[in-house]
Amino acid sequence: MSEVPKKTLSSLVEARYRDGQSSQRPLPNHLPPTLETILSHRSFRSFLPTALPTGTLEALVAAAQSGSTSSMMQTWDVIAIQDPSHKSAVAKLAGDQEFIREAPLFLVFCANLNRLANISEKYNQPAEALSSMDLFLMACIDASIAGQSAAIAAESLGLGICYVGAVRNNAQEMCELLKLPPNTFGLFGMAVGFGIEAAYSELKPRLPMAEICHSETWSEDNQEVHVESYDQSLGSFYFEQMRLDRKCWSAFMAANVASKQQDGRENVKKALENQGFKLQ
Ligand SMILES: Cc1cc2nc3c(=O)[nH]c(=O)nc-3n(C[C@H](O)[C@H](O)[C@H](O)COP(=O)(O)O)c2cc1C
Repeated sequence: MSEVPKKTLSSLVEARYRDGQSSQRPLPNHLPPTLETILSHRSFRSFLPTALPTGTLEALVAAAQSGSTSSMMQTWDVIAIQDPSHKSAVAKLAGDQEFIREAPLFLVFCANLNRLANISEKYNQPAEALSSMDLFLMACIDASIAGQSAAIAAESLGLGICYVGAVRNNAQEMCELLKLPPNTFGLFGMAVGFGIEAAYSELKPRLPMAEICHSETWSEDNQEVHVESYDQSLGSFYFEQMRLDRKCWSAFMAANVASKQQDGRENVKKALENQGFKLQ
């Protein structure tokens, strides 16, 4: 039986980029378990019907709340959806994605300025800042930090996750289904469960490190070269997976942003306004 090669930091970084260059940059020569978990991330879109061990939700929420939070404001909340028929109704609004129904747990991370509105009312304060765009951004940033902390926690427990932006496809209906009060909004979902492993590697390559990481000031000097290189690395990944229908990444992205119509997400601003967000 052939031995499985030992994972190293540089082998994981090479698997993440597949460009023969990003992993040639200097890297520490040990691989701490947290970094191994982070670098091994892949989304799962197929889950076993196995229930989560007791306390999993609590561990994920504690991890999520351990992330940094802007000005200690903690302007995010999460809704844990486990009831199969409720989860199915949520899945229907979120692009009817079957893996949401399969996953034993579906989390919806929400921006929440309503707690601050309620507290301000108690202190008889006007809460004028709640109408600012920056406070909404803060809530989105904090919710994203919380979500990613929960994702890493889940993966460190041997679970698989998939984020779900499609919770915004029918944003208004989702607000109603989840009974969201004013000043709250469902930003993204996350399916959590025991992911079904594929036979082949699913570490999806990312854009070259040199494209994303600028030194001291912004530069787009080599963007075309980087994007061409990435079209090839992602192309070879899809080829290995026999997903021959996939266009090259850059053509796919250009097609993606060509139209204002985005599966209903063009209505997100209206839904936010209906929830009372002023974004000034
Ligand atoms: C905010 C966010 C929303 C996403 N929404 C969806 C979604 O609705 N459906 C889906 O199948 N994947 C979704 N994804 C997963 C991405 O497609 C996936 O992360 C990306 O293709 C990279 O693949 P990887 O996570 O396996 O590395 C989402 C990811 C993020 C970060």
